[in-house]
Amino acid sequence: MSQNRRQFLSALGATSVAGAIATGQVNAQVPQPVRSTPATARKPTDRELSGKVAIVTGARNNLGRGFAVALARQGANVVVHYHREATKNQAEETARLVRQQGAKAILVPGDLSRVANIKRLFDETNTAFGRVDIVVHSAGSLVKKPMAEITEAEYDRVAGINSKGTFFIMQEAIRRIADNGRIINVGTSLLASTIGNYSAYAGTKAAMEDFTRALAREIDWKRNITVNTIAPGPVDTPFFRDPESPEAIAAITRLAGRLGSIEDIVPLVEFLASPQSRWVNAQTIFINGGYVTR
Ligand SMILES: NC(=O)c1ccc[n+]([C@@H]2O[C@H](COP(=O)([O-])OP(=O)(O)OC[C@H]3O[C@@H](n4cnc5c(N)ncnc54)[C@H](OP(=O)(O)O)[C@@H]3O)[C@@H](O)[C@H]2O)c1
Repeated sequence: MSQNRRQFLSALGATSVAGAIATGQVNAQVPQPVRSTPATARKPTDRELSGKVAIVTGARNNLGRGFAVALARQGANVVVHYHREATKNQAEETARLVRQQGAKAILVPGDLSRVANIKRLFDETNTAFGRVDIVVHSAGSLVKKPMAEITEAEYDRVAGINSKGTFFIMQEAIRRIADNGRIINVGTSLLASTIGNYSAYAGTKAAMEDFTRALAREIDWKRNITVNTIAPGPVDTPFFRDPESPEAIAAITRLAGRLGSIEDIVPLVEFLASPQSRWVNAQTIFINGGYVTR
C-alpha cells in the first residue's frame, strides 16, 4: 500500500481496505474499486491551504467527509456541516479527523433547503474563523422512482437542496467569500447520461451547471474567485447503493468499468480548492472513469 493511500485510509479511520469495509467506508457487497494514488494527489506536507477556511456541506460522512479531511490535510480550518441532529455523532467523527490533520473544526447543523439555515451556516463560520475561502457544497438528496410515481413532497425534498439550496448557498458564498476564493458544487454525471428513474434527482442537480456558469460570469475576474461543479459517476457510498438492486449495480458497474471510490473523487476537489486551479472557472468537470464521454 502506498504512503498516501495509508494516510488517507488512516484519516478516514481505517488502516486497510478490509478496515475500511469494517468501518462502513466501503461496501463488501459490490465489486471493490481499484484504488491507486492519483497523480494529482497532494502530499500531506504541502499544507497550501494554511490560513484558509473551508465550509463543506453534507460532511457527516462519505464524500463530504473525504473533502473535509483532505482540505484539512492541506491546512484549511473546516466548518463541518451536517443535516440532522440524529447524525451529529458522525459529524463529530469528521471533525475529529479534521483536527487529527492539525486543523480546526466546528460543526454546524441544518436543513440547507431553508435560506435562514444557510445564512446561519455562514454566520457561524464568520464568528468562529472570521472568513471563508472555500465552499464545497456536497449536500444533496436523491429519489429514484419513475417520474409517474414521484410525489410533490419527494420532488420538493430533492429540489429543496439540489436546486434551491445550491442557489442560495452560492449566493451567500459570493456575498462573503474572500478574494482567491473557491466555490465547488457536487453535481452528477447523470447530467450527461440520462437513465430512467432519476428524473427528479438529475433534473434538480442540472441547475448547478447553469448556476455555476452564471455566477462565474458575474464575478470580477480580478478577485480570482472560481466557481465550478464536479460531476461524479457512481461512487460506492450508501447514497448510490441503497436505492439500487444488485442487478442494477452490476449493470452500472459494467458500464463504468468499476464503481468509483471516495478517494477517486477527492483529488479533484483538492485541486479545485488549490491555488493551482486558478484558471479553471465556470466549468462542470465530469469524473467517472469514462462512464460517460461528454
Ligand atoms: N455516491 C454517488 O454515487 C454520487 C454520485 C454523484 C454525485 N453524488 C453527490 O455527491 C454528494 C455526496 O453524496 P455521498 O455519496 O457522499 O452521500 P451522503 O453522505 O448521503 O451525502 C449527502 C449529504 O447531504 C445531506 N443532505 C441531504 N438533504 C439535505 C438538506 N436538505 N440540507 C442539508 N443537508 C442535506 C445528507 O444528510 P442526511 O443523510 O442526514 O440527510 C448527507 O450528509 C451528493 O450531493 C450526491 O448527489 C454522489
